[in-house]
Amino acid sequence: MSSLWVVPFLLLLIVSLLEGTLGRPFYPLPSKADHKNKEPLQAFRPYNIAHRGSNGEIPEETTAAYLVSRAIEEGADFIETDILASKDGELICFHDVTLDDTTDIADHKEFANRKRTYEVQGVNVTGSFVVDFTLKELKSLRVKQRYTFRDQQYNGKLSIITFEEFIAIALDANRIVGIYPEIKNPVLINQHVKWTNGKKFEDKFVETLLKYGYKGEYKSKDWLKQPVFIQSFAPTSLVYVSNLTDSPKILLIDDVTMPTQDTNQSYWEITSDSYLEYIRDYVVGIGPWKDTIVPPENNYLAPPSDLVAKAHAHDLQVHPYTYRNENQFLHLNFHQDPYAEYDYWINKVGVDGLFTDFTGSLHQYQEWTTKSSQEDKRASNLLHKISFMISSYNGV
Ligand SMILES: *[C@@H]1O[C@H](CO)[C@@H](O)[C@H](O)[C@H]1NC(C)=O
Ligand SMILES: *[C@@H]1O[C@H](CO)[C@@H](O)[C@H](O)[C@H]1NC(C)=O
Ligand SMILES: *[C@@H]1O[C@H](CO)[C@@H](O)[C@H](O)[C@H]1NC(C)=O
Repeated sequence: MSSLWVVPFLLLLIVSLLEGTLGRPFYPLPSKADHKNKEPLQAFRPYNIAHRGSNGEIPEETTAAYLVSRAIEEGADFIETDILASKDGELICFHDVTLDDTTDIADHKEFANRKRTYEVQGVNVTGSFVVDFTLKELKSLRVKQRYTFRDQQYNGKLSIITFEEFIAIALDANRIVGIYPEIKNPVLINQHVKWTNGKKFEDKFVETLLKYGYKGEYKSKDWLKQPVFIQSFAPTSLVYVSNLTDSPKILLIDDVTMPTQDTNQSYWEITSDSYLEYIRDYVVGIGPWKDTIVPPENNYLAPPSDLVAKAHAHDLQVHPYTYRNENQFLHLNFHQDPYAEYDYWINKVGVDGLFTDFTGSLHQYQEWTTKSSQEDKRASNLLHKISFMISSYNGV
């Protein structure tokens, strides 16, 4: 009699355990984190955009436990990722269209016959293409660091993650951390991956964002709760998704020699005043390769172009890519000091966000030069208290 109350409790426990095992998806989905009490996104200084996570330290775009959570720990405002699709239509976080440079696919004999040659942006590329592998096959691979001069200790330990797993990391952060996903190589993806009901890559991409509550115009209440920038090098993809979501979009701009992958427009065409005037109906900003804004000459900076001024005149933000600490990426004017580079781009060029491989460095720089609003608030509260104490003491 005395222990009968335990029975419903046990049943409940069994049911919840079963739910935990049977109903569990392939990957963890975002928990229902409490968004109300999270520290808000800072919006008073340029955005710190963790390019492929903290990939200066840990292999790019890898699992929660390491890379992207490292970037969050180090102070990223946004975590950035490239979205591609598997053969079976699952969206994944991966940069290259082939698996050869940043995974251990060469060690997988079962995939030895999967190499193909496809035309990618007007060039024939041979390799093991992401679009020829199912998600399960992609999950059997392990990733590795792209550059040999970066930390190699995580090679072989981390797997490719899905777009949903990436979103889970951002939503589970203990402060508001935005996401910055790219609709990557949409022309190639739509050629090789087919979804039901005639859906396109862009439809799946937006569906995923909406499923997890990413919506609303730039700086709207919804956006501030779950900030997102949708980025792409393909203008037609951005125009297309404008019909599906009002989330803010960024047009990426490649090197001056690269035409757009979908519309075959030149760099000069898409950076003209008339084009910026047209595209501003669809995007809130541009994301140019930084060497097109300030072209280097013999590894020194040449005079800047007027692209930032032009974009600002059209009320477009500018988020250039990619800032990297290592000497081989720093132009000589910066005398091997990444902080000197940040100072130049933030205070002299005046950009609105920076894609960096070293989120921690950009965060330290910004904390030292412009304190976070939270700290400002704390400092001003303290000053207020002190002045109150002084005035009380003076008997005023
Ligand atoms: C790629 O290879 C195919 C088949 O050999 C060829 O027809 C095509 O012209 C090539 N494309 C480019 C851009 O070289
Ligand atoms: C957006 O939707 C409108 C109305 O349905 C349609 O006429 C237009 O072609 C669509 N634009 C794009 C780029 O798909
Ligand atoms: C892209 O534009 C260039 C320059 O106008 C032209 O030579 C080339 O044939 C075009 N490529 C395609 C695939 O249309």
